[in-house]
Amino acid sequence: MNTIAVLTSGGDAPGMNAAIRAIVRSGIEKGLRVMGVRRGYNGLIHGDIFEMTLRSVSNIIERGGTILYTARCPEFMTEEGQQKALNTCKYLGIDGLVVIGGDGSFRGAKVLSEKGLPTVGVPGTIDNDIACSELTIGYDTAMNTIVEMVDRLRDTSESHDRCSVIEVMGRRAGYLALNGGIAVGATSVLIPEIPFDLKKDVIDRMRRTQRTGKKNFVIVAAEGINDPIEPMAATIQEETGVEARYTNLGHVQRGGSPTAKDRVLGSKMGYHAVELLANDIGNRVVAVHDGKIVDYDIFEALEMHKTISEAEYKLAYDISI
Ligand code: ADP
Ligand code: F6P
Repeated sequence: MNTIAVLTSGGDAPGMNAAIRAIVRSGIEKGLRVMGVRRGYNGLIHGDIFEMTLRSVSNIIERGGTILYTARCPEFMTEEGQQKALNTCKYLGIDGLVVIGGDGSFRGAKVLSEKGLPTVGVPGTIDNDIACSELTIGYDTAMNTIVEMVDRLRDTSESHDRCSVIEVMGRRAGYLALNGGIAVGATSVLIPEIPFDLKKDVIDRMRRTQRTGKKNFVIVAAEGINDPIEPMAATIQEETGVEARYTNLGHVQRGGSPTAKDRVLGSKMGYHAVELLANDIGNRVVAVHDGKIVDYDIFEALEMHKTISEAEYKLAYDISI
C-alpha cells in the first residue's frame, strides 16, 4: 500500500476533523501518500482529490463539520457511478480508502471492497446508530448541544408554567432522544424503536405529576417516530390545560466544536483505520467494543443490529415522575 485516500460522507458530525487529522498524520508518518477526497463519493467520481500534507490538517481538531466537505451522492448508487469512482482510484494510484460516515456510507464502502478496493469505515454520525459500535464520532457533542439547548428551553418554560415539546434528530434511531431525555430530566421520551401511546405515556403522566405540584414539563421526541411531533403540543395543551410550545432543535445539533470525548474518539478511530490499511488489511469497520477500539469485517458489520436499551428507557420514565 503506497497511497491511501480519505473521504467524509452522509451527514457531517463534530469530530470528523479529528479523525481526518489522525489519518493524514499517521499515514504520512508511516510513509504513505495521503489524498483527501472532497464531498464524499462525488469527489471520487469526479476526481475532486488533492494530496494532503502534515500542515493540511493543522488547527482543525477543534473545528466542527468536515474540512473535506460531505455529500449524499445518488450517482454512487449506480453501477456506472461506482465504476467511475474505481477508475479515478486506479488513475491516481489510490490503493486503499478510509470512509468516515454512517451506515449508508459504509454500504458504499462495501461495494468498493467487493470490487477490489480495500476500504475501512470509520463511524461518524451524531445518531450513534452504527450497529457494530458502542459509540460513533459526533454523538457526544450532539448530546451536549441538546442538553444545553433544552436547559435553555426549560428556563423559559418553567417561568411560564409551560410544556416544551422538543424534536431532536434521529431518523431511524432514538439514542439522542433517549439519552438526551435522561440528561435533561424529560417527563416523556418518544423514540422510533419503542411504540408509545400519547395519552398513556405523555398526557396521563403529566396529569399525575400535576397532582403532585409539577407545573412545567419537557417532552423529548426523536424525529423518526411515526407521528408528527408539532401537533402534539396542541393536543397536550387541550388535554392538560398546560400551555405548550413546540421547538425543533434541527441542524444546530450537528454543528459546533467537538467535545474532548469526540476529539479523542475521532483521533483513535482514524489512527486505527490507518494501522489496518498500512498492514494491507481492508474491508473493515472500526468500532468501539467494551470501551476499546476494535474492527469488524465490513460485510458482517452491516448485518449487525443495534437495539435500544429497554432498561434505559424504563429508567428515563421511572425517574421523571
Ligand atoms: P450516512 O452515511 O450518514 O448513513 P446516507 O445514508 O445518506 O448517509 O449515505 C451516504 C451516501 O452513501 C449516499 O448518498 C450514497 O452515495 C452512499 N450509499 C448509501 N447507500 C448505498 C448503497 N446501498 N450502495 C452504494 N452506495 C450507497
Ligand atoms: O444522520 C444524521 C442526521 O443528522 C439525522 O439525524 C437526520 O435525520 C439527517 O441526518 C438529516 O439530514 P439532512 O442534513 O440531509 O437534512
